[in-house]
Amino acid sequence: MRKIKITETALRDAHQSLIATRMRLDEMTPIIEQLDNIGYHSLEAWGGATFDACIRFLNEDPWERLRVIKSLAKKTPLQMLLRGQNLLGYKHYADDVVEYFVQKAVANGMDIIRIFDALNDPRNVETAIKACKKEGGHAQATVCYTTSPVHTLELFVKDAQRLESMGADSLCIKDMAGLLIPYAAYDLIKAIRENVKIPLALHTHYTSGVGSMTYLKAIEAGIDIIDCAISPMSMGTSQPPTEAFVATLKDTQYDTGLDLNKLSDIAEYFRPLREKYIASGLLDTKILGVDVNALKYQVPGGMLSNLISQLKQANASDKYDEVLNEVPRVRKDFGYSPLVTPTSQIIGTQAVMNVITGERYKMVPKESKAVIKGEYGQTPAPIPADILKKILGDEAQITCRPADLIAPELESTREKMKEYLQQEEDVLTYALLPQVAEAFFKMRRDGFPAPAPTPAAAEPAKKAEGSTNGAVTAAISAAVAVISEEDGMQYEIKSIRPAGISPWVLSGRLKM
Ligand code: CO
Repeated sequence: MRKIKITETALRDAHQSLIATRMRLDEMTPIIEQLDNIGYHSLEAWGGATFDACIRFLNEDPWERLRVIKSLAKKTPLQMLLRGQNLLGYKHYADDVVEYFVQKAVANGMDIIRIFDALNDPRNVETAIKACKKEGGHAQATVCYTTSPVHTLELFVKDAQRLESMGADSLCIKDMAGLLIPYAAYDLIKAIRENVKIPLALHTHYTSGVGSMTYLKAIEAGIDIIDCAISPMSMGTSQPPTEAFVATLKDTQYDTGLDLNKLSDIAEYFRPLREKYIASGLLDTKILGVDVNALKYQVPGGMLSNLISQLKQANASDKYDEVLNEVPRVRKDFGYSPLVTPTSQIIGTQAVMNVITGERYKMVPKESKAVIKGEYGQTPAPIPADILKKILGDEAQITCRPADLIAPELESTREKMKEYLQQEEDVLTYALLPQVAEAFFKMRRDGFPAPAPTPAAAEPAKKAEGSTNGAVTAAISAAVAVISEEDGMQYEIKSIRPAGISPWVLSGRLKM
């Protein structure tokens, strides 16, 4: 008997993946106590993009959301997703900010912190793991799954062992793009299971239609925990459905022990919500289908749709095949980084630029240069010498842990935002997303517009100019806009985004 545990993602990844993270706290609260009574391994309810979405779109204090959820879910551990040294923002933060953030997350009710790094560079997760353990939290370290010539079973096992030896309490294999197919999952989980002792969790997305089969093979290979979403919030770009697993595993050696009738009541609650999201345009039914391209090209489905949007903006849709061929070449040049926020956007953008300008690396955005330079950490494979020379010239690569170059920033942040401080946690909100936080704090002080804005699912895109320059500018804007949608970085790129092109027109589907 090996009881399989389920993490329910309805309150975080499911709505991040299906409705761009727009589920509001008042839509969650009526069902949380029922969720708490199911007996899930954990409720994923915070982190990822929820923090950003709370202050940017929902006029909600993310810390208050965490406290409210905790007050209603007293029995089930709460779980969050944390981007290692990037926390819930989009750059590396100083260690003092990372440590304080983790301390406050645990103090406000977080139990399990899933910590990942886009490059699988263990140095970028070490501070967060240590801080989590120090605060008495459960540190779940993460291996991001991807496919490349260097991503062998041996490499994944080595990554997993390194994280275990760092003190991780459990390990997540994170298939953020839905690329992990069933038999590959079997081999991967089996290899890791044979070499690490801590519990193993698997995270996937249903994007390519194989998610449930992947979980089943992973269960046979020794996985302990799977991430599922209650059926109305499942499938498509979200997770496989919870009820399907409870039924599939019932009366087998893997029986979850969860009550299908109780789950059915929960589905009953979410079903009208789903209808509401579809009616408002927040849930685009297109993303509920099977994205075959994800399987065909081994790149995340969302990345492909972003590329199509970028090319359309640049009036260069005919270049799609060329760009598709360019993506793996850029990825190779960039040391075979996993395609996850932010590397997926950076590599996709560079591929579009390489094709549209007609010369590889004629234009290199600062994010591309930062990856090559080592500012995001060590890439899985070394950057080829000719690319180093072309992009960095005589500049040297960074070989230390990127955060080693960042001076403590907690106190200077506090100084900058002290006029807005109402709770200690506000310092962290500001440290992570300064401009969005400031706008949020001002509204909190002066009164939120009522009712809070309901975000439009998509705004019409302004046609780009036909000239080459116009096309390139539009491509860059579009590319950067993709980063914005996923990363919330639009405050950094306003200066190069021509007016009229909304950062939200390219509804990214690349999820974490
Ligand atoms: Co995810």
